[in-house]
Amino acid sequence: MENVTIKFEDSSDIELPVVEGTEKERGIDITELRSETGYITLDPGYGNTGSCESSITYLNGEKGVLRYRGIPIEQLAEKSNFIEVADLLINGELPSKERRGRFAALLTDNALLHENLKHHFEGFPWNSHPMAMLSAMVNALSCYYPVLTLTHRLQDLEMAAAILISQIRTIAAFSYKMTRGEPFIYPIPKHTYSENLLHMMFSLPHEHYEVHDDIKHAVDRILILHADHEQNCSTSTVRMVASSGANLFAAISAGISALWGPLHGGANQAVVEMLLKIHKGKLDVKKCIEMAKDKDSNFRLMGFGHRVYKNFDPRAQILKGLAVKVFDVLKKTDPLVEIARELEGIALNDPYFVERNLYPNVDFYSGIILRAIGVPKNMFPVFFAIGRLPGWIAHWHEVADNIHSRIDRPRQIYTGYTERPYVPIEKRS
Ligand code: ACO
Repeated sequence: MENVTIKFEDSSDIELPVVEGTEKERGIDITELRSETGYITLDPGYGNTGSCESSITYLNGEKGVLRYRGIPIEQLAEKSNFIEVADLLINGELPSKERRGRFAALLTDNALLHENLKHHFEGFPWNSHPMAMLSAMVNALSCYYPVLTLTHRLQDLEMAAAILISQIRTIAAFSYKMTRGEPFIYPIPKHTYSENLLHMMFSLPHEHYEVHDDIKHAVDRILILHADHEQNCSTSTVRMVASSGANLFAAISAGISALWGPLHGGANQAVVEMLLKIHKGKLDVKKCIEMAKDKDSNFRLMGFGHRVYKNFDPRAQILKGLAVKVFDVLKKTDPLVEIARELEGIALNDPYFVERNLYPNVDFYSGIILRAIGVPKNMFPVFFAIGRLPGWIAHWHEVADNIHSRIDRPRQIYTGYTERPYVPIEKRS
């Protein structure tokens, strides 16, 4: 592989190696740049910065390609299920029948929260955001499994992954129940993963929640489509926390907090809130588009645009088709669907959005589907977090298992005061 030479006016030139990935992506390795020249690179938002080499997920934003461990997302969404995809991401291979059965059994065996952990929910006000509870409870979970937090290079990854993937679902459902003042509902061992999530949220002690197979299937698809997305904000957070040697639970808890923001996993909630405002007449479609284009406004068309996808988001395309199916099965209509289609139609033909390659992203239709199933808005990012968990675990492990990994510690260009003396309080104006 060739080198790249950077020429400097005030220091000697430096030759830097080029690294190439398996999909021919190229990067300039600047590891020696500062020690050799005194310069650092400045890349706010990391649009041009590769923070690591990773073998988990491949994404080509220009071509709309997304593959987990080499397998296209379209094939996984059609043929696999969430638990198999989780195993694929974490262990690198599609599991054998025997392995898949063992992992599923581990999830079933570990679905219940420790009874004491249940009492933590009583400490939250009834109107707490479920993402706050989720992040706090996942961190609290580590206190009940000290063995799994002891070593940085975790010995029993399979067990830790099973506990987290199974119990995040229980925590999510219990947070929902807590905000509604309803009794917690326990998982049923013979249920599938997604079926149990819906059961624990919507069943009541006197009334079992019956759900159509296609709806369980739709929830499973949503989780698969969210399962990993290489170095996004929350995953980079998980990796950064992992780089300090922090345990898996602590890193996942931080990832959940990063995901909560409206520019990331909170966008599905923000999309539906925007559509509801339009529906209630507080905003109209044209005004919404104008505001999104107005450089003096910080309003953005939620569910549109992506740092990496510049053509189409393959997940959004699958979800759009899934939305049609879900409404069909439920024999429901939702005025928000029409508004979403109208917004999408205008935006896709408006030069502002076309020139900037702004297309619907995964969040544009996921909230509409979840709303149709009866999931409240503030639980949308929680579904995203449940889906993203296997990816976070895989990335945490990639960092923790690498004996050459260093603590993440970016540099900065300082723009504050230069040195000045301390002024005693009586002399300050
Ligand atoms: N509405 C209006 N304009 C937009 C939008 C939008 N949704 N997204 C980007 N733009 C504009 C920007 O104003 C900018 O215009 P300029 O070149 O004239 O300054 C240009 O498009 C490029 O945008 P950036 O902000 O540089 O794009 P970036 O990669 O930093 O941000 C992001 C990506 C955060 C997703 C952005 O598109 C956005 O805010 N979208 C809405 C929120 C959203 O849907 N988030 C979910 C993302 S997907 C996920 O996390 C699962």
